[in-house]
Amino acid sequence: SIEDAPAMAWRGVMLDVSRHFYPIPTLYNVVDWLARYKMNRLHLHLTDAAGWRMEIKRYPLLTKQAAWRDAALWKTWWNGTRAYAHEGDTAAYGGYYTQKQLRQLVKYASRRGVTIVPEIEMPAHSEEVTAAYPELSCTHNPKGQPDFCPGNEGTFTFLQNVLAEVMDVFPSTDIHVGGDEAGKAKWKTCPDCQRRMKEEGLKDVDELQSYLIQRIEKFVNTKGRDIIGWDEILEGGLAPNATVMSWRGTSGGIKAIKAGHDVVMTPGEFYYLDHTQDAPFKEPVSIGGYGSLEVTYGYDPADPSLSADELKHLLGVQGNLWTEYVPTEEHAEYMYYPRAFAVAE
Ligand code: ACM
Ligand code: ZN
Repeated sequence: SIEDAPAMAWRGVMLDVSRHFYPIPTLYNVVDWLARYKMNRLHLHLTDAAGWRMEIKRYPLLTKQAAWRDAALWKTWWNGTRAYAHEGDTAAYGGYYTQKQLRQLVKYASRRGVTIVPEIEMPAHSEEVTAAYPELSCTHNPKGQPDFCPGNEGTFTFLQNVLAEVMDVFPSTDIHVGGDEAGKAKWKTCPDCQRRMKEEGLKDVDELQSYLIQRIEKFVNTKGRDIIGWDEILEGGLAPNATVMSWRGTSGGIKAIKAGHDVVMTPGEFYYLDHTQDAPFKEPVSIGGYGSLEVTYGYDPADPSLSADELKHLLGVQGNLWTEYVPTEEHAEYMYYPRAFAVAE
């Protein structure tokens, strides 16, 4: 007789399908092993500079163009041209999931207790979008523009239309809107951004990012969903109903919990599964960082500074696999195991 119950509501892994593209059967395999270890969230990092991975019917260039690049290995591409290709070009590397494929995956996962959480990056990590739709960046240059222009109403039209299709395909209550690592460099001189800041009484570009996230949150809330974002969404003022995913250590998560928000802990030091698991000379080339099984297992998300009441806002934990240096499913499994067991436990 076994009595068993989860300590936490959110028990997840993230797979970055942008830096390298994993065909749909890989996602089914990940769902199977998540279910086996009683985990219940598969967070898909669907968009980034290296490729857009979800069919969006209203914006076909996202997958005709921004889902393909001219070099298969991320490092070759990133240190090389950073150029996009077209679907069907002979040397094009990439791919995307159709809405039909994703709906089937969602259903399969749901029957196994796994929710697929989609992530659409904003306002940064979006060079692929501004290559396909250059009018969405401050400069309108189709090359090398990571940030959307929050001064441009067209940015909100685009993001809301995309999110409407995303929410139609993914029933997840939580919709991940990224929020990390925005350079905000062009916002400081862009006339549209400057006008927006003046009109809205925003004192710096952090508040301009917060304006974008809060406006998107309102839209997502009208559909009965909530946003979740990386801990940078705390900067410039946290959107009122947002859940925070704490990756730059645990302090952002602890701060958000103390402010009454739900938090998923995924601190880089312990739960970034792209870090090397053993001495680097014994391991495949990785992005860096050292995260052995002991390191991952040793993390206790119930920080002693949190009271019993505050701990109710600790929604759960998640191991993240960024895939700049992980081009195949076999390599991805090597990185997940055995550390994902430690996250599960
Ligand atoms: C992140 O690792 N940039 C969330
Ligand atoms: Zn701008």
